Amino acid sequence: MKEETEGKSKYSPFSFASMASFWQPEYLVESGWIEHIPFAFWLVENARPKMLVELGAYTGLSYFTFCQTIKNLKIKSKCFAVDTWLGDEQTGFYDPGTYDDVFKYNQDIYGGFSSLIHAPFSNRAYNERICSINFQIHDKRIRLISSRSLWFSI
Ligand SMILES: C[S@@+](CC[C@H](N)C(=O)[O-])C[C@H]1O[C@@H](n2cnc3c(N)ncnc32)[C@H](O)[C@@H]1O
Repeated sequence: MKEETEGKSKYSPFSFASMASFWQPEYLVESGWIEHIPFAFWLVENARPKMLVELGAYTGLSYFTFCQTIKNLKIKSKCFAVDTWLGDEQTGFYDPGTYDDVFKYNQDIYGGFSSLIHAPFSNRAYNERICSINFQIHDKRIRLISSRSLWFSI
């Protein structure tokens, strides 16, 4: 049952929120991910990952939201986005030039700590490049790893 405190419910959809949750994204493109931006700011702020990996970055909306948080909060972190930048059956197949735009924005704004890995998820090369973390990546899950790494997948 809902508890009331001075006329206000102590349960609020915003009880998790921090100042970061209300930041404006500096990079905004059309994406099915858009309504998750406040949560993304909050999550990275609170997890403060030493490493962040996103599987499936597409035009970069979610990924650059993570990167913005890392940069604004001066978190010492290495970030990676892994994608073929070709699309898939769910998203649809798109113009390979999408990668060029994402690459340029990444280099210009987040090049100091963020790298794009233009490869399929199944490619072992990116595992070697990223780190020695020995765990399986599970599709469509966010995994918080004890070594303070955050993995996001589409
Ligand atoms: C739903 S979109 C990602 C949306 C994105 N996070 C955003 O903020 O808009 C999925 C992406 O995953 C990529 N993808 C799907 N399967 C892949 C695979 N096996 N290897 C690499 N990339 C893959 C697609 O190319 C596509 O860009």
